[in-house]
Amino acid sequence: MSSDAAKKAAAEAALKYVRPGNLIGIGTGSTANYFIDALADLRNDIPGAVPSSEASAERLKAVGIEVLDLNTTGPLPLYVDGADEANPQLHLIKGGGAALTREKIVAGASTQFVCIADDSKRVDVLGSFPLPVEVIPMARSFVARELVKLGGDPEYREGCITDNGNIILDVHNMAITDACALEAAINQIPGVVTNGLFAARPADVLILGHADGSTDTLGA
Ligand code: A5P
Repeated sequence: MSSDAAKKAAAEAALKYVRPGNLIGIGTGSTANYFIDALADLRNDIPGAVPSSEASAERLKAVGIEVLDLNTTGPLPLYVDGADEANPQLHLIKGGGAALTREKIVAGASTQFVCIADDSKRVDVLGSFPLPVEVIPMARSFVARELVKLGGDPEYREGCITDNGNIILDVHNMAITDACALEAAINQIPGVVTNGLFAARPADVLILGHADGSTDTLGA
């Protein structure tokens, strides 16, 4: 079961990857929020951060960390973000908070991706968590039919508009045994912006937090 103490423990353990003077890419979600709050103590040591959502941008500003534009920063040394599921290869499902596209962009622009999660997110096979897919609104029905052909059961996320003005289809009932192949196949469907599989660019390090405040680190 996920717990706030576990998320906070994982987030605080990620501080050791922050180097004075370095920019940081910042993810989205409750675990990333704990990281932002912890990072506030280092605000005078870092020049700023590139957020993966409007929500994270607001939280960064609120704690006094400068928000920067990826187009002006260039490559980032570090990206820290949560996940909805993580497998032993550090392939992830992300996008439960609908920020998957910007998350994938900032992760892709970063040298090191440190994923922070409570231990409930660790799985052997991805796919129990419905796979989020960001879709251009006019393509919603077409993309849904194509996802059915790939073996999934897409569900429109009611009332959700992404920061990019698009909609989310959550794909149920996929046992994802080849995450790289499925990530590429879904991204080939016209109208798909991207999907929440992070396999072509997995995490480099996974910090799992436990409810007692301890952490395990994989991939370090
Ligand atoms: C946001 O779109 C997601 O990718 C989050 O990183 C993911 O949903 C994890 O969220 P929590 O940290 O809130 O569990």
